[in-house]
Amino acid sequence: MKYYLDSAKIDEIDYAYKYLKIDGVTTNPKHIQNSGKPFLTAIKDIANWLEENHLQGKDVFPVSVEINPHLDNHLEMIEEAKKIAAISENFVIKIPCNVEGCKAAKLLEDQGIRTNVTLVFSPSQAIQAGRIGAMFVSPFIGWKESSGDDGLNYLHQISNIYKEKNYKTEIICAAVRSGKQIAECTEMGADIITAGLSVYEDSITDPWTDLGLKRFCDAWDNTEGN
Ligand code: E4P
Repeated sequence: MKYYLDSAKIDEIDYAYKYLKIDGVTTNPKHIQNSGKPFLTAIKDIANWLEENHLQGKDVFPVSVEINPHLDNHLEMIEEAKKIAAISENFVIKIPCNVEGCKAAKLLEDQGIRTNVTLVFSPSQAIQAGRIGAMFVSPFIGWKESSGDDGLNYLHQISNIYKEKNYKTEIICAAVRSGKQIAECTEMGADIITAGLSVYEDSITDPWTDLGLKRFCDAWDNTEGN
């Protein structure tokens, strides 16, 4: 089980790598916007950070980078994906799960360019990602749950289908929003979880821990000789 950070901010990536032991990064156009930098600058800065931390390589620390979301033709998607992939060996190219996107992802994987089929909201979309041999598939658990759907049930379905069919594609539970979802996705057969920094930090806090600490501080302070 691996845990990725959903962010394009270098300070967050650096912090989460050093202190939270994250195994990779996922970005999307929203995260790039939040980094305050233009797309190419933001992803080149991530590539430089990988180099500074000796994390370059296909087999370590994958960073998912999404193509221009306006592209709606598989040939243009492929052209853009190749340019992004040339920037860093760690980059895995995020391609939207629609007809043109799946065509692009299949041809890219055939050419050795790794893909993350993203914006996945149903088991049938995930099946296609598995069939074409995408490196990752990203079901958006948090978005499903916030619109009232049972995100975990569909994750479970995807995970069972992948096991049954022996698909090698790894499942990234995306848009995970809480400690509860981290635990449930881990239990339900996800390979990877991706979440924002505050979700991870909140997930390792608990009011009872704080209360317990307060009680122990009081005891400490009231112990004769301390
Ligand atoms: C996943 O790869 C996506 O970047 C992400 O989880 C989308 O969620 P968001 O709504 O937190 O941006």
